[in-house]
Amino acid sequence: MIEIQNVTKEYDTKNGTVVGVDNVSLTIREGEIFGIVGYSGAGKSSLLRCINLLERPTKGTIKVDGVDLTKLKGESLRRARLKIGMIFQHFYLISQKTVFENVAFALKAAKVPKDQIKPRVEELLEMVGLSDKKDVYPAQLSGGQKQRVAIARALANNPTVLLCDEATSALDPKTTKSILKLLKKINKELNITIVLITHEMDVVKEICDRMAVMEKGRIIEEGRVYDIFASPKEQLTKEFISSVISYDIPEAILLECTGTIVKVTFKGKVAGEGVISDTLKVHQVDGNFLHGSIEYIQDEPLGIFIMELKGEKQEIEKALRYIENRAAQVEVINYGI
Ligand SMILES: Nc1ncnc2c1ncn2[C@@H]1O[C@H](COP(=O)(O)OP(=O)(O)O)[C@@H](O)[C@H]1O
Ligand SMILES: [Mg+2]
Repeated sequence: MIEIQNVTKEYDTKNGTVVGVDNVSLTIREGEIFGIVGYSGAGKSSLLRCINLLERPTKGTIKVDGVDLTKLKGESLRRARLKIGMIFQHFYLISQKTVFENVAFALKAAKVPKDQIKPRVEELLEMVGLSDKKDVYPAQLSGGQKQRVAIARALANNPTVLLCDEATSALDPKTTKSILKLLKKINKELNITIVLITHEMDVVKEICDRMAVMEKGRIIEEGRVYDIFASPKEQLTKEFISSVISYDIPEAILLECTGTIVKVTFKGKVAGEGVISDTLKVHQVDGNFLHGSIEYIQDEPLGIFIMELKGEKQEIEKALRYIENRAAQVEVINYGI
């Protein structure tokens, strides 16, 4: 478990103090995949680097598995850090060393006995699917393969936590998927807690259990990924979601609408039910679908439909109540003219 308490990170620069992280408190549970999203400059990397004390917080405490890292120094801090692996957008492999040597390096640095290094590197390369590349140099690898080497290196000393700083941002969509699949496997099989920061909401949708949204050094919203997709509260969160699920309706179509436009969100199994057709049967209301889809957030369906309802205002109100009672969330977007 990672407990971030009232962490602030300030940087002293020529132009004065820059606040990277502003009084953040956050608890990341053991074994979960936690995503932090935000635009560039939001403070994501600063916060992540505070977790393993690559940056020392200006204020606040960081506890990993109950140990307050901000109280540690020297050798005890180095030892505690071995339990926290990290990977980056640009991999940071040593170009003069082979794949094998890059991974072995992490073990040597941790003073692992020589005879244990070879079998351990082989085991790690097997896990990331690169056994056949062990004697190759990084320049001969694709981006996805380089990230796999970096993952093997990060896992070398059996960490309990893996920090990922935009780990898929330099990769194409297909490679991104394969790396996310590998991270998920590592999370499940080795029970490693993963903290992943990204500006790509589809990465979060794909593998995270819970998430937080950062802006100007602060966390402005957090919760289960599913709940945040189903009912985002902050404008910025809505913006991030719309990059994955877009419900923009062409202006020309909106101008033609004379009824009430509503967005109906169905959570879970009910997404597949005929709630809307029942609604239209029971009430004196006509309905037009403008947009709709069922998204799967880690296998859990989330149905979102935008429709125009036409009829007497009272009947529409009744229809909306009816939908709400059938375990859906209804939001009136705007009233027709
Ligand atoms: N080493 C540093 N020195 C000075 N300012 C920094 C440093 N690292 C980050 N910052 C500043 O802190 C803020 C947050 O940056 P960062 O944590 O890199 O955000 P993100 O990862 O979300 O893009 C930005 O204003 C950035 O300029
Ligand atoms: Mg960053």
